[in-house]
Amino acid sequence: MYILDHNDHEPLYKQLYKQIRERVLSGKLPAHAKLPSVRDLAVELSTSRNTVDGAYQELYAEGYIYSKERSGYFVSALDQYAAPLSRNHEPRQQSRPPQPSPSFAYDFHPARLDPASFPSALWRTCFLECLRESSREFSLYGEPQGDWVLRCAIQQYLERSRAVICEPEQIVICSGLQHSLELVAHLLQENHSTVAVENPGYHLPRAVFRNNRFTIVPVPVGTDGINLEALRASTSTIVYVTPSHQLPMGFVMPVSNRLNLIDWAESGGNIIIEDDYDSELRYHGKPIPSLQGLRPDGNIVYMGTFSKVLSPALRLSYMVLPRSLLARFKLLYQDYFSVVSLLEQKTMAKFMELGHWERHVRRMRIANQKKHDAMLKAIERCFGDRATVIGQGAGLHVVLRLQGENPGETEIIRLAAQRRINLFPFSATCVTGAPAETNLLLGFGGMTAVEIEEGVEILSRIFP
Ligand SMILES: Cc1ncc(COP(=O)(O)O)c(C=O)c1O
Repeated sequence: MYILDHNDHEPLYKQLYKQIRERVLSGKLPAHAKLPSVRDLAVELSTSRNTVDGAYQELYAEGYIYSKERSGYFVSALDQYAAPLSRNHEPRQQSRPPQPSPSFAYDFHPARLDPASFPSALWRTCFLECLRESSREFSLYGEPQGDWVLRCAIQQYLERSRAVICEPEQIVICSGLQHSLELVAHLLQENHSTVAVENPGYHLPRAVFRNNRFTIVPVPVGTDGINLEALRASTSTIVYVTPSHQLPMGFVMPVSNRLNLIDWAESGGNIIIEDDYDSELRYHGKPIPSLQGLRPDGNIVYMGTFSKVLSPALRLSYMVLPRSLLARFKLLYQDYFSVVSLLEQKTMAKFMELGHWERHVRRMRIANQKKHDAMLKAIERCFGDRATVIGQGAGLHVVLRLQGENPGETEIIRLAAQRRINLFPFSATCVTGAPAETNLLLGFGGMTAVEIEEGVEILSRIFP
């Protein structure tokens, strides 16, 4: 007897399919046993023929039953190993591998977002609308460079908010910075072998270029951004920079240096990779236009991400290739498919098209500014003149330079962890190990204002 539950969310045909399959696998329905006809079973279960037919079709398609002309359906003779294995087939409980970090009460990691900030309801609405509208496209591979509508939306947004000048044709939808850097590394490998990176700077570009056999040249960073004299003196023909908010120091490269950097690229046939990762989050003064916009025809690869304002878990980002690299990009990747889910791309496009993105950016800017201000106030109150803040006014972190005696970065991180505080080591941004001064990288994106105040206070008591 099969039992169909009309209150169950699972369709009736699926319930029936599962029950018959279970009997086949457990041997209760032996090989070559005849199944009742569709009509008889439908009558027996007081259900529609469609329900029984749907279950039979699925069992037939998966090979649990076979049909004989004008005789009906019969149980297949299954592989001798399949039945016993499946007899008591419970999904195995995998024990979760140990998590890398204990749960912290105060997480100052610079790349965390407020868990409550993701616009779930709006995202779900856009997602469902895309599902309804684009069913045909979901049976195909998308465009290799990414969904055209999303590329158009990004182009308009970048022009309006970052003064980036490009055509959608130059945009590639990527799955994070690592992915875009991998693509660029392959693209440039033929004619380049040495990359200059900011020191201190984001560790990821060093890893990606090193893994692609490039030589990495660390170039010091000052308050005006990367040191141009040191760059010129190096043999690098590519430079990776974060000119609008240097990671980790937060410095902004002034326009004179930007023009000099562009000159370095143009005069030597060199390439600039501009990472504009958190440009949406500037709290004081005017937004800083992109470097790309100063020379749209220059050798500048512009990179941006949705990780800092929307969600790093989406793995959704983009890059703008200069025209000089576009033909080679198409040649190299003509047989590749986009690695970014088309459904996520379409949802993002819809989110932007309906104006949700720019509203969300404004909301996040206000929310993060409050946290940023709470951080500065707490530092002032708890550290006074024992520390100096560097790089405030933008992004999701500040750098705290400790003055005078202190136990050093490693010990501070250890002591902080004992008090359930997570600190990301500043030294991880330094190519040549920890600097002479002790700097703490204090992210505030994933904490509430109250947590920031408490966390800073506890931290300040670690060393008097
Ligand atoms: C300098 C810099 N660029 C880019 C990113 C983000 O990249 P993704 O798009 O891979 O999330 C980060 C994240 O912390 C970053 O620090």
